[in-house]
Amino acid sequence: MSLPRPWAGCALAEHGGADAGPPVAFDFSTNACPLEPPQPVRRALQQADRRRYPDPGYTALRAQLGAWLGVASERVLPTAGGSEAIRRLTLAARLRGVARVWVPQPGYGDYRAAAEALGLEVRAYGDGGALLRALAACGGEPSLVWLCEPCNPTGESLPAAFWQALAALPGRGTLLALDRAYEPLRLEGRDPVPPALADRAWQLWSPNKALGLTGVRAGWAVAPARDDALPAPRLEALAPSWVLSAEGVALLQAWTLPATQHGVHATCSRLRAWKRQQRAALRALGWEQRPSVTPFWLARPCEGGLARRLVALRAQGVKLRDATSFGLPGWVRLSVQPPPAQQALLDAWQAADAAITSVENSSASFLPS
Ligand SMILES: Cc1ncc(COP(=O)(O)O)c(C=O)c1O
Repeated sequence: MSLPRPWAGCALAEHGGADAGPPVAFDFSTNACPLEPPQPVRRALQQADRRRYPDPGYTALRAQLGAWLGVASERVLPTAGGSEAIRRLTLAARLRGVARVWVPQPGYGDYRAAAEALGLEVRAYGDGGALLRALAACGGEPSLVWLCEPCNPTGESLPAAFWQALAALPGRGTLLALDRAYEPLRLEGRDPVPPALADRAWQLWSPNKALGLTGVRAGWAVAPARDDALPAPRLEALAPSWVLSAEGVALLQAWTLPATQHGVHATCSRLRAWKRQQRAALRALGWEQRPSVTPFWLARPCEGGLARRLVALRAQGVKLRDATSFGLPGWVRLSVQPPPAQQALLDAWQAADAAITSVENSSASFLPS
């Protein structure tokens, strides 16, 4: 039996973090912060009222987030996290007549997965210059453009010149979607997105990664200030009732507290120091590493045989994110972890390397000379 077209060829997007295997002792494959969340967030989650539904309109939460962000509460839409928001925004865009979706390559797989599931045409852009040229050439054809700043999986930031050039392009027909999942975990530099451009875009935020609480599915979208292309109520109408759980509400409310923001700032300082240490240790092992502004980055550990090494590491409780599904075979994405985990990675890598090299040498000795 053949599937209806939008579903054909669709598979679940691959992710780092937990998988179907035993728990991972040292998980470098997740982008979630490895440190405990600040105390106000822990307390809020303990006290979340699970006995009843949250207010279906999320009135108080939207007001609180709106006041914190400095935008009208009508522009703030609670979501069950970034991935839910990506699906919903793509659907809303399709219902508004968008037929083409631009995604960063390499980039978070859910942008493409959401578009393909709805039968939309997906075009990938490799860098900001390529996107600008394509948008200038496409003549206002309705499209949805995903931007991830800072970007997953690279951890890189697009330059200020790109953002200025994008702001200068006429926005006709283009829905800009700005994924800010990792902005709270920016370890270097400043947010390069001009506020005027951010105001023209749909912005998606999900602090669970910065809080090390990815099991809590919670985030929010901020609608553009002028919402004539896709008004906020359209996205709201596509949400299931109570899209955000009681824990989600508690997490987002606690996120706005000064003590939480102070805690996240302190966390970033620790991650920055651990990142320096981890990168130096991997450099000493001979790994090629790309620069990043986040606590994760891309690395190329060896010339060949990566897949076997990753399996051997996983068997020792150490997990790295194979970057093949990002279109980068031979590369991994890895996150900053505390010094004992770093040591576990180094030990497991050396053990895997030694075991694989010895097997390769012994099979080579059986070959006819
Ligand atoms: C760029 C990006 N956006 C969104 C998400 C999804 O976040 P959430 O857990 O809020 O659904 C992820 C998760 O890895 C991500 O990397």
